[in-house]
This record gives sequence, C-alpha cells and structure tokens, in this order.
Amino acid sequence: MAAIVSEKLLDWYDAHARRLPWRAMPGEAAPDPYRVWLSEVMLQQTTVAAVKPYFEAFTARWPTVDDLAAAPEEDVMAAWAGLGYYSRARNLVKAARAVAELGQFPDTEAGLRELPGLGAYTAAAVAAIAFGRRAVVVDANVERVVARLFALEEPLPGVRKQIRSSADTITPDRRAGDFAQGMMDLGATICTARDPKCLLCPLASECDGRVRGDPSRLPVKAPKKAKPVREGNAYWIEREGSVWLVKREGKGMLGGMRSLPDDGWSARADGDGQKPLAGEWSASGLVRHTFTHFALELAVQRYAGSEHPAGNGEWWPLDRLDEAGLPTLFAKAARLALA
Ligand code: ADE
Repeated sequence: MAAIVSEKLLDWYDAHARRLPWRAMPGEAAPDPYRVWLSEVMLQQTTVAAVKPYFEAFTARWPTVDDLAAAPEEDVMAAWAGLGYYSRARNLVKAARAVAELGQFPDTEAGLRELPGLGAYTAAAVAAIAFGRRAVVVDANVERVVARLFALEEPLPGVRKQIRSSADTITPDRRAGDFAQGMMDLGATICTARDPKCLLCPLASECDGRVRGDPSRLPVKAPKKAKPVREGNAYWIEREGSVWLVKREGKGMLGGMRSLPDDGWSARADGDGQKPLAGEWSASGLVRHTFTHFALELAVQRYAGSEHPAGNGEWWPLDRLDEAGLPTLFAKAARLALA
C-alpha cells in the first residue's frame, strides 16, 4: 500500500499544489532554505492566511538569513507582533545568527536540529522541502490524514507515536518534500477536520478510516479541559498625544515585547493590584484573550492624574501606535482605551 499511497498523493500534488509564497511548485528548483525555514516557523500554530502578510513583510525587510542575523532582536520581535507565541521570534534570531556564523544552513535533519530553538518538526520539514532529504514531516494536517488513512482509534495525544510510525511507512525516498507538502495540502483542503471531502480524495480507496465509516471522528481527541481564567489589569497613561509603554522582562510569555504597564498577571494567578501611579483611575473595560494554557480577563485602567511614571519605559506617540509592535492582547487593550 505504501508505494501506491505516495504515488497517488504525489500525482494529486502535481495537479493541485497550492501556490504559496515560500513554495517551489512541483518540478521547479528547490526553494531557498531561508524562506522554507522562516515559513515553517511562522506556520507553527498559525494559519496560512495569517502567515502570508508576515512572510512577505519579513522577506522584504530581511531578504537573506544574514540580513535577519544582523537585525536587532527588538526589531524582529516588533515585526512579529500579532503572530503570537513570541518565543518563536526570539529563537528565530538565535538560529539566524548561528546559520550566519556557519556560513550556510545545515542540509540534514540532524544538522538542522542542532540550531538553537529548532525543533524536530522544523528540522524534518526544512530537510525535506529545502534539501530533498527523506524525513517524516508530521504537522496537525498530516496527523489528521494519517490517523484516518490507517484508522488509528487511540485518542490524541497518545496516538502520536503510531501516527509517526505510520507516516514513516508511506514517506517515499524521493520527493519527500513534495510528499510532505502534498499531505499538508490534502489535510488543509480535502481531509478537513469537520467535513472531509472523500469523494475528491486521491487516497479514498486506500483509506481505512473511510471503510470503517465516519472518518471525521478521527483522530479522536481527549475531552478538552476548561482553561483556567486569570484576571489582571493593564494601565493606560496618556500625556500630550503619547502613551507610556514598557518593555516586558524575561524570556517567558510575551518576554521582550513592548506593552502597556500591567500588574503582573502573567506571573501570578492574579495581579498584585499595585497601580503604577497614585491618583485617579477609571476603568475603560475588559479585554478577553486566550493563551495556550489559560484565558485572561484584562481590565484596562485609564489614568486621570498628573504624576509622571518612573522606571523603564517610553512615551510613544499615539499616531504611530501601530508601529510599536504591541502583541495582540495589548493592541486590543489600546483599542479599548482609545475608543
Ligand atoms: N503548514 C506548515 N508548513 C506548510 C507548508 N510548507 N505548506 C503548507 N502548509 C503548511
């Protein structure tokens, strides 16, 4: 079955590959490893539609890995604002600098894996897509296709080992990059989560999930736990057409990003309630935002006093606020304060 699956999938990909800015179409020369790597990092946990404008902006501003390696980390963090999972941006800069030091991208999965912050998925994807190496590339779309193709009934996340070994059995020695991207495209357009279009699927006659009926139930997901809710405050201090912004400390969530001052909700179950300035405050409203492990209800407090904030921060002109690189949570808070 293995050879039939890869052959049918590659034929389908030759006819139906999505045209994407980081991609070489079937038969074209292999794409630039820098563009492949950058796109794969951006596409983790993020949709193709959301990634496209960021990919275009990054490659226009930093056309080569050496350009990115030479960029100040804070410029890259600000350009990443809105994409989420900001540790990806910090690791991006680290890996770019390591590649610049080496003089080129390592061209094997094992070599790529040694770059700082470059995980198993990204190493496999870049090795296959940019260098034509045989590698088993499993993202969420591929996971779904494989769980259905092999009718794997065990729930996620436990089933991942089986998915990986099953994917290994159908990965061809040649065109592993096209195969990986074909599986991704099949998952994104045909073998979709809720409403798989089996009548259009090139693998329908090989699919055990389809034979057993109702492939849309696969992969089985463990019931979702309700996310804990944290509460916190963000502070809007405005003066003569500018707002007071700070840089977040540390390497944790949102670390290194510019933001409104807040009360430390990210470190504690709730904030310490300390307002940054004495005087009068008024509530502008509540922003709700969902992170991987919790939901946040952030109250936006607007300062009505005349004291000057102390410590590290800067007055940022309101008419250039969209250039501050605020992560989505604080961009939402700013919109609320300005409404
Ligand atoms: N998702 C992650 N990587 C991708 C790629 N190379 N093409 C399409 N979707 C993807």
